[in-house]
Amino acid sequence: MLQTETNYLKSCLNYTGGKYKLLKQIIPLFPKNIHNFIDLFCGGANVAVNVEARGAICGIDKQKEVIRLFNTLKQYDFGEVLNIINRIITEYSLSETSKYGYIKYKCESSAGLAAYNKEQYLRLRRDYNSRPEDNPYYDLVFYLLNVYGFNNQIRFNKKGHYNIPVGKRDFNDKVKSNLEKFMNRIKEKNIEFINADFREAKIELAKGDFLYADPPYLISTATYNEQNGWTKKEEVDLLRLLDGLDEKGVKFALSNVLDHKGKENTILKNWAKNYRINYLDYNYGNSNYQIKKKTLNTTEVLITNY
Ligand SMILES: C[S@@+](CC[C@H](N)C(=O)[O-])C[C@H]1O[C@@H](n2cnc3c(N)ncnc32)[C@H](O)[C@@H]1O
Repeated sequence: MLQTETNYLKSCLNYTGGKYKLLKQIIPLFPKNIHNFIDLFCGGANVAVNVEARGAICGIDKQKEVIRLFNTLKQYDFGEVLNIINRIITEYSLSETSKYGYIKYKCESSAGLAAYNKEQYLRLRRDYNSRPEDNPYYDLVFYLLNVYGFNNQIRFNKKGHYNIPVGKRDFNDKVKSNLEKFMNRIKEKNIEFINADFREAKIELAKGDFLYADPPYLISTATYNEQNGWTKKEEVDLLRLLDGLDEKGVKFALSNVLDHKGKENTILKNWAKNYRINYLDYNYGNSNYQIKKKTLNTTEVLITNY
């Protein structure tokens, strides 16, 4: 089935650096007739859930909590997941605007929900951070922390504690419906989610297979990039891995930025001379002047070996 831009599905996690908005530029640049597909650094899996492949689709990321959540969502029925989510919302007295509107929470808009949810959210976060074990229940707590958290961000401190403050949204009808669609999609496509560092994951691809890589960008910042998560060492290791695929005749595409806020990635620029650079327009279809200004000097690219 040919996917048009209107039916691209958004991840159930609002991922920093997520590629949802760029899908309409990235996916048409992918090879046609992909056999097996790997979404390396899958994050929210925005790419994996929208790719057509004849063989297996696999997402790899080192963020354990995210991969655990996706595997739990794959394993359970939507009804079962919804029951647990509703139980947690009730137990922690979190807002439910889809049922009660904003008036019950003494606020007129979503902005006011932060004040209402703050204490309960912090209790939920505390309980999550001191969980006795990882299990499907806590995977859904993690999901709810993301839904009710500030800007729906994901960030863990050095101790591995989730440390995002409360946000202004809740588990409303739109969020619920997106979760259901996302769950259906990962089941339909039977996406295999693997928790691993890219250097340790077994990447066994052959001609006809395709790998998409969306690593943290060396010259920009993101929450998953804090604590020296991505340095020149990781950058060079990844470029070697991609060279290795090229030697085997496996097609790949790498998302990245060549320039960003006055910085340039010279390692990447030199390496990319051997491949094809497809320039993307980050502001495509966006009329927001502030966003345009912010990303004016960012060269967003998709580097391919085909
Ligand atoms: C730009 S985000 C990916 C966003 C994703 N493409 C999407 O659309 O949702 C980069 C991801 O790389 C992961 N990551 C960082 N270092 C990694 C490593 N060494 N091995 C595997 N994954 C890593 C982060 O956890 C993060 O999820």
